[in-house]
Amino acid sequence: MKKTQKRMRKLTGLSRVLAFMFVASMLISAAACGTTPAATATSTTTQAAATTQEATTAAQADSEVQSFKIGISMPTQSLQRWNQDGDNMRKAFEAAGYSVDLQYGGDNEVPVQISQIENMIASGVNVLVIAAIEGDSMTEVLATAKSKGIPVIAYDRLIMGTDAVTYYATFDNWRVGTMQGEYVRDQLKLDSESGPFNIEFFTGDPGDNNINFFFDGAMSILQPYLDSGVLVTPSGQTEKSVVATLGWSTENAQTRMENLISTNGYRPSGGTPLHAVMCSNDSTAQGVTNALVNADFTKENFPVVTGQDCDIVSVKNMLAGVQSMSVFKDTRTLANAVVDMVNAIVAGNEPPINDRETYDNGTGIIPTFLCEPVAGSAENYKELLIDSGYYTEDQLQ
Ligand code: BGC
Repeated sequence: MKKTQKRMRKLTGLSRVLAFMFVASMLISAAACGTTPAATATSTTTQAAATTQEATTAAQADSEVQSFKIGISMPTQSLQRWNQDGDNMRKAFEAAGYSVDLQYGGDNEVPVQISQIENMIASGVNVLVIAAIEGDSMTEVLATAKSKGIPVIAYDRLIMGTDAVTYYATFDNWRVGTMQGEYVRDQLKLDSESGPFNIEFFTGDPGDNNINFFFDGAMSILQPYLDSGVLVTPSGQTEKSVVATLGWSTENAQTRMENLISTNGYRPSGGTPLHAVMCSNDSTAQGVTNALVNADFTKENFPVVTGQDCDIVSVKNMLAGVQSMSVFKDTRTLANAVVDMVNAIVAGNEPPINDRETYDNGTGIIPTFLCEPVAGSAENYKELLIDSGYYTEDQLQ
């Protein structure tokens, strides 16, 4: 209750802007829709005065909307998804009339991201939307945001250990992990076959709170089979901290997979068989695929490899039979959800929230809007990615 009151206080300035926008938009649409019979009866002089007044108000409203600035901070430009997220949000916010300051934190460089956010605050942004490189490095900079009454939306990744986070918008991250686990379970028929099947694990950056959902979600499905011995991890590496991949980097994943191949003697034939590699996302899956292809695995004997994002490279790999699945998270949906959130914030309303229990950032539960992920593979990519307009066939050639 206290938190809500505080939030509302913070937002009153924004509400005033919206009230202005709302009145102005009513006037604009009245002007656009033509005159009512009562209006027709008014004198020409009154009409002219009203028109001038409307035009002035509309012009003022336009400049107010344009001066309502959204600071968007994305982690890196080196991964396809964040470029899409940034672009989609910029387009959606600009179409709604906001002005946008979109920045990328170098190549996952925490100090760069923090100083960009400091600059955004200094330049007077009204709302911050942040996909943090490192979830627990934002405490200081966001304390400044909070002191200035700037609402903060954690985007995709939860920002930890600060009470400055107002809302969180993301995909159902636990579901992403369980989809990957279920895919491995179903492809290897773990419920009916006795195995043992060999599996290795890769997750993402330890500073990204999402890996706790992706990895633990996948393990919630696969752990019982590891316990019963139907699944075996020859390297013995099943701890999240051990299978983490710094920076979610393809190169780091490739290097680790190369080591696993040589240490455990994985071969397409005549060595240790490898049946599955559970990867938390596409950038790590791509490193794993590179290492496996270099070690002469082909689509005829490729292990089940999971991923997430439906990156173009990974979709091509799926079509070539060297990655098995990916989880599709339509970044357009998330961008629109965030715009809806900001519209509500500006209006002084409670944004659309559908989860009030899962995401505790250490200072309490952060009200969250969760979008639904969908499992993608070579079987359904057309419907999922082409028919929906996410990619063109050409992009996947
Ligand atoms: C996102 C994934 C992405 C990964 C690497 C995660 O926080 O949820 O979609 O693949 O970061 O950038």
